[in-house]
Amino acid sequence: MANTYVGAIDQGTTGTRFMVFDHSGQVVANDYEKHEQIYPNPGWVEHDPVEIWENTQEVVQNGLKHAGIDASQLEALGITNQRETTIVWDKESGKPVHNALVWQDRRTTDRVEELEDEDKVDWIRGKTGLEADAYFSATKTEWILDNAEPLKLDHARTDSLRTRAADGELLVGTIDAWLIYNLTGNHITDVTNASRTMLYNIHDLEWDDELLEEFNVPENMLPEVRPSSDTEYYGHTDADGFLGEEIPVAGALGDQQAALFGQTCFDAGDAKNTYGTGSFYLMNTGNEAVESDHGLLTTIGFQMSGEPVQYALEGSIFVTGAAIEWLEDVDLINNAAQTAELARSVDSTDGVYMVPAFTGLGAPHWDGRARGTIVGMTRGTGKEHLVRATLESIAYQTRDIAEAMEADSGVDTTTLRVDGGAVKNNFLCQLQSDIIQTDIARPQVDETTALGSAYAAGLAVGYWDNIDQLRSNWQVDREFEPEMESDEADQLYSKWGEAVDRSLDWAQE
Ligand code: G3P
Repeated sequence: MANTYVGAIDQGTTGTRFMVFDHSGQVVANDYEKHEQIYPNPGWVEHDPVEIWENTQEVVQNGLKHAGIDASQLEALGITNQRETTIVWDKESGKPVHNALVWQDRRTTDRVEELEDEDKVDWIRGKTGLEADAYFSATKTEWILDNAEPLKLDHARTDSLRTRAADGELLVGTIDAWLIYNLTGNHITDVTNASRTMLYNIHDLEWDDELLEEFNVPENMLPEVRPSSDTEYYGHTDADGFLGEEIPVAGALGDQQAALFGQTCFDAGDAKNTYGTGSFYLMNTGNEAVESDHGLLTTIGFQMSGEPVQYALEGSIFVTGAAIEWLEDVDLINNAAQTAELARSVDSTDGVYMVPAFTGLGAPHWDGRARGTIVGMTRGTGKEHLVRATLESIAYQTRDIAEAMEADSGVDTTTLRVDGGAVKNNFLCQLQSDIIQTDIARPQVDETTALGSAYAAGLAVGYWDNIDQLRSNWQVDREFEPEMESDEADQLYSKWGEAVDRSLDWAQE
């Protein structure tokens, strides 16, 4: 009998990946495609949902083809996705009425300031665990319904989107819901993605009526919320569809929660940091929703079928890998791999600090109007100093979170599990260990995001029996221990705080 596998669609901010995993959690197929980043105005970021769905089908087909795997060998499909990014689509045609508003999009900052002025921040945090911010889906959904110029649909309707939403003609969802809908025809989201909308009550585990009213989102637009690993399955792919097979779609998690799961952080106190476009540091807090006093988010980590949800504390850093991309965009480097060599060519930044607040600052500062800032330059500052300062900014932002995490949880992190594209960079891993004075563990399979959603789907269909089996799949690739004296790390870090202060509240619109 042919071997069987589990597939995972990882729909991220910059592109879509499809991976196939075997029983030992090893990658047996991998394909990736980028999609267009649309910037209609400063601070606005959109994606074309149709392009994302087309790319998804392509990477799945190509991934299978290149690995010589037949779709019938897939026992299940899991989904993981950029979170918060919001799509509204037409129920009848299945077509989006507007581009997706991406999590990085800041166009609703004014609306968030209104909430602040109305003293609604604590009220929102109490229900959702989130800091009122344009980052989340609530204000994005409201914006689309109120302001979007509807895209021309085949059966063009002239009613406003508001009217159409009230009449039950529109659906809304994050990227997981969009993909599940296109794969299975069912309007479903998983509980981790729901917890990022700022419309979902993470304690009552339901869409919150008062928040729906605040943001004027009709409940009939929203997807059904299901566990991250669901033995009832979200649905099946269509035998007459692009895969030509009926495959259960049985697991979904937002990408950061998927990485937590893929890193096998199943117990309270387990933590990981993923270095992608941004960085997202999550600590499992078990069945307790720990409230943060230090600017972190309380969010849902995952939920297995028939079990209570596991919560997590999260530090969301908006720009880390994207700062390296920026170095490339402005021609300071040709590719990301060059950063380590350039940074190593100098002993220090000579006092230069770079705060990559390109889309405001997330945790723990939460300032939508902060902007990118470079301080401390002299006539002798060279590109290697700027490159080093950019890598250091990744490590400092992570220390901001590590400190908040320890203060909130009372748990001293002794080893931090890391993953994501940037952890291939040994210089960065060592720097990270030095700056936070903690051991860093890099696993052999660093695509833990896709792995986490494959695990969720595979557990639901019985491909894996239980989570203990998954723990033994986790293998360390390399560990990094602090080499810098803690005094030196503290001194460098204290100046970082001053640089951050200079970046705050810069943008006027
Ligand atoms: O919250 C945003 C996050 O899910 C985006 O992740 O990896 O697509 O940058 P990534």
